[in-house]
Amino acid sequence: MLEAIVAVYSDWGIGKDGTQPIVVSADRRHFREVTGDGAVIVGRRTLADFPGGRPLKGRRNIVVTRQNIEIPGAEVAHTPESAAQLAQQSEKAFVIGGASVYRSLLPMCGRVHVTMLDCVPESDVFFENLDQSADWRIADSSPWHEENGVRYRFLTYERI
Ligand SMILES: NC(=O)c1ccc[n+]([C@@H]2O[C@H](COP(=O)([O-])OP(=O)(O)OC[C@H]3O[C@@H](n4cnc5c(N)ncnc54)[C@H](OP(=O)(O)O)[C@@H]3O)[C@@H](O)[C@H]2O)c1
Repeated sequence: MLEAIVAVYSDWGIGKDGTQPIVVSADRRHFREVTGDGAVIVGRRTLADFPGGRPLKGRRNIVVTRQNIEIPGAEVAHTPESAAQLAQQSEKAFVIGGASVYRSLLPMCGRVHVTMLDCVPESDVFFENLDQSADWRIADSSPWHEENGVRYRFLTYERI
């Protein structure tokens, strides 16, 4: 089953100008724990925002792009759907953004791991508000934690 993992602000914004304006390190740890050694599907713009613009280590990286390029350490898919098909060969596969790839593949996801950050920096890209969708329910939630003055919690949404 395809899953998604995302960090959202209170308005379900997820980024601005190609990056995430506010991050907490606990979310990075959570991301590593959840995705483990599974496959990740990532848009080419989000890849560019990774350290050194390089694929994530220890995971199978599938990069979605329309370009005919080779990316060392990653497989290239020319549509989100073909990325999802490639990911089927892996036991666990996660859609890790960005906005356009989430939009294309959320309909194929059965579970979404959300880190909710209790703040509203300006965003220019958004994730679907799952609280306002009849298709999703919260299956699990953590208490609120705080890091550097930012409250955050982890939620797992499952498709109804
Ligand atoms: N908060 C979070 O958890 C989180 C996670 C990830 C990303 N983000 C944020 O999301 C933003 C980036 O999102 P984005 O939507 O701008 O970019 P993106 O989804 O990361 O990448 C977009 C690129 O993916 C390729 N692509 C998208 N749809 C395609 C399709 N149907 N067929 C073929 N290729 C396709 C294209 O690559 P080419 O241009 O190479 O053709 C496109 O330019 C950033 O602000 C980032 O920080 C937030």
